[in-house]
Amino acid sequence: MKFIFNLGRQSELSLAELYSLFGEQNVRPMTANLAVLESDDLPGNMEEIGGSYKVSGIPKIIDQKDWSRLSEIISEYVKSDKDLTKKITFGLSIYNKELPLKEIHKLGFQIKKKLLKDFGSSRYVENRDQELNSAQIINNKLHKGNNVEVNIISNKNEIWLTKTLFIQNISRYAARDFNRPFRDSRNGMLPPKLAQILINIAAGGQKSVVLDPFCGTGVILQEAMLMGNDVIGADLNPQMINFSIDNIKWLKTKFNIDQDITSEFMVGDAITTQWPHFDCVATETSLGAPLSKIPNSNSFNKIVENANNLIKGFLENLANQLSSGQRLCIAVPAWKVSSNGFRKLNVIDDLDDLGYNLIEFKGLNNKELIYLRPSQVVGRQLLALIRK
Ligand SMILES: C[S@@+](CC[C@H](N)C(=O)[O-])C[C@H]1O[C@@H](n2cnc3c(N)ncnc32)[C@H](O)[C@@H]1O
Repeated sequence: MKFIFNLGRQSELSLAELYSLFGEQNVRPMTANLAVLESDDLPGNMEEIGGSYKVSGIPKIIDQKDWSRLSEIISEYVKSDKDLTKKITFGLSIYNKELPLKEIHKLGFQIKKKLLKDFGSSRYVENRDQELNSAQIINNKLHKGNNVEVNIISNKNEIWLTKTLFIQNISRYAARDFNRPFRDSRNGMLPPKLAQILINIAAGGQKSVVLDPFCGTGVILQEAMLMGNDVIGADLNPQMINFSIDNIKWLKTKFNIDQDITSEFMVGDAITTQWPHFDCVATETSLGAPLSKIPNSNSFNKIVENANNLIKGFLENLANQLSSGQRLCIAVPAWKVSSNGFRKLNVIDDLDDLGYNLIEFKGLNNKELIYLRPSQVVGRQLLALIRK
């Protein structure tokens, strides 16, 4: 069966995550922001995938020539798996084709009319944009029961119609992000979705013992535990370890975490620490000083050099504790120095000598997996590595 994933704003990171979870042979980019997964079933817990915000399926593929008959085709498609004795609420999202809002509304009302003629009344959730937003989908339950969101994807000579099966629940992410007892804005706040991407690239969907040697307030530990992994958190700063311990205690009271899942904490310098047994490493290293703009070249060089020394020392120490084939995904700083250029750490050129291979991802530049919010200067470069 085919499932269509809507990739997040930085679609390369989302693709790297999907490839790591499902294998490159099963995932194919469809457009710049959509990918197709070939799988027998809808994957287990979609809430654990950080980089894709929507998944749809049950595709019906028609010819572009049939665009003029779209209302008819969609009303049949909507009806095909619904209980026609109950009212249907439906919505539309359009991809890969710019359609004026009034054209989308017209299509929606034509479908409503057609459904009324054929079986009974329905409700059309009016578009405010080409794509319905998450709140519209969740509040109207368009991904559930007798309701439906139809995705209309223009793809070369074809139009794909799909039905939404899963949508990321933003408020659930916000609840575990903003309500944690301890947050640390100085260290920058790793979004939980990005933590999930790091874990999925490192663990490849296997339940593992995940090590975070720069755990800070514990976002990665928290997400890894919610995904069913045991965790080890370490940090140079004892206060951070206390924050992580308290955050994990809070997590256990608020969320359903399996009793058997373990968490272990230790204070330690990532350059010298000997960690207990772990399967993979997912971490966000120190990102250096928070910056709102690039400073003068002396200060900037110092910041970059310090970060480089720390990460090089960490990778050297870690290499001695890894067996061949063990994976890690680490977020390291990369600084936006021009409209499309980044200053990256020199250590990236030494990975081979340090005993690591950068994991290759089909069609992606594995040295350009960078997460950057608009207006930020310090980005997070994802290094997906495997011990040689
Ligand atoms: C960017 S923060 C990580 C934030 C973390 N992802 C969180 O959820 O809060 C980097 C962390 O690295 C720690 N750190 C800095 N140098 C370190 C070192 N040499 N060894 C271990 N931890 C270090 C800092 O104390 C800080 O907590």
